[in-house]
Amino acid sequence: ADKTSQYTIGFSQCIGSDLWRRTMLDEMKMELSLHPDVKFIYTDAGGNSQKQTEQVKKMLDDGIDLLIISPNEAKPLTDIVEQTYNKGIPVIVIDRKTSSALYTAYVGADNYQIGRMAGEYLGSVLKGKGNVAEVMGLPGSSPAIERDRGFNDGIKKHPGIHITVQVYGDWLKANAQKQLIKIEPALKNVNAIFAHNDVMASGTRDVLNKLQISKGVKVLGVDALPGNGGGLQMVASKIINASLLYPTGGKEAITTAFRILNKESFTRENLLQSVVIDSTNVQLMKLQWSKINSQQKDIERQQSLLEEQRQIYNNQQVILNVIVIT
Ligand code: FRU
Repeated sequence: ADKTSQYTIGFSQCIGSDLWRRTMLDEMKMELSLHPDVKFIYTDAGGNSQKQTEQVKKMLDDGIDLLIISPNEAKPLTDIVEQTYNKGIPVIVIDRKTSSALYTAYVGADNYQIGRMAGEYLGSVLKGKGNVAEVMGLPGSSPAIERDRGFNDGIKKHPGIHITVQVYGDWLKANAQKQLIKIEPALKNVNAIFAHNDVMASGTRDVLNKLQISKGVKVLGVDALPGNGGGLQMVASKIINASLLYPTGGKEAITTAFRILNKESFTRENLLQSVVIDSTNVQLMKLQWSKINSQQKDIERQQSLLEEQRQIYNNQQVILNVIVIT
């Protein structure tokens, strides 16, 4: 039994609108529902590092017991995260990192490893020969830096493969498309494209189609989300060739938060596993997700039944009190 009633958890999200981060928040809320008395403050910086800094400042002024943060860019958010930590407020960094080691715990997959897996995978798909393009995330955000570094190292293992062109798509479909159109001549000479996330990978496929570049060009993304518009569906329908799973860590961040708040032992580096999903295993992955999803629905049904019971019980208490008084 924890003392959740006293706790306020602040969660500072760098940009809240996309499917991946909505999934992260859903996972958090699911776990938070087991702690009905906790106060949860959520802010969305809309992809603006300055705004995110201000939002964290405001949380500190209002008073929080623990901060969960996904920093939009590493450097601009470092100072405020260090300040929070130095005030003695525990900080859980999720998905994106700052440039500092001053944080209480990290939750997320190993982005260097993901980049390397992508490089090695393309190396084997292209049988060790060819040109590849890279569509990178937002410059200065840690997953873009780490996925790029890993990808270069993965490709290095195949001396016949060359990264011939790189653009920044800032994690956004429209930006990726705009940059890719600009490099049309170079695109005509690539055999595969690694995009740092699935939304940019889907934008990449659109551009290839628009420029009537061969369907044979392999497109690889990251995230592999279940559901409508997610990467799994895009792999299954062959819009993209493969995606690397990037778990959101929403649930793990909340469980870690309560371990810290309740002064229990916790893991500082919580590294979540990734895996390549392509046509060979996508059906299995979809099946597993739909199983989890139906179990989730069962839990929600049970929770709302419990809530109904509680209401009925409370009403009966009221009636009892009335009877006693009269
Ligand atoms: C969502 C997202 C994901 C990507 C992650 C990197 O906002 O762009 O697609 O994997 O952020 O931080």
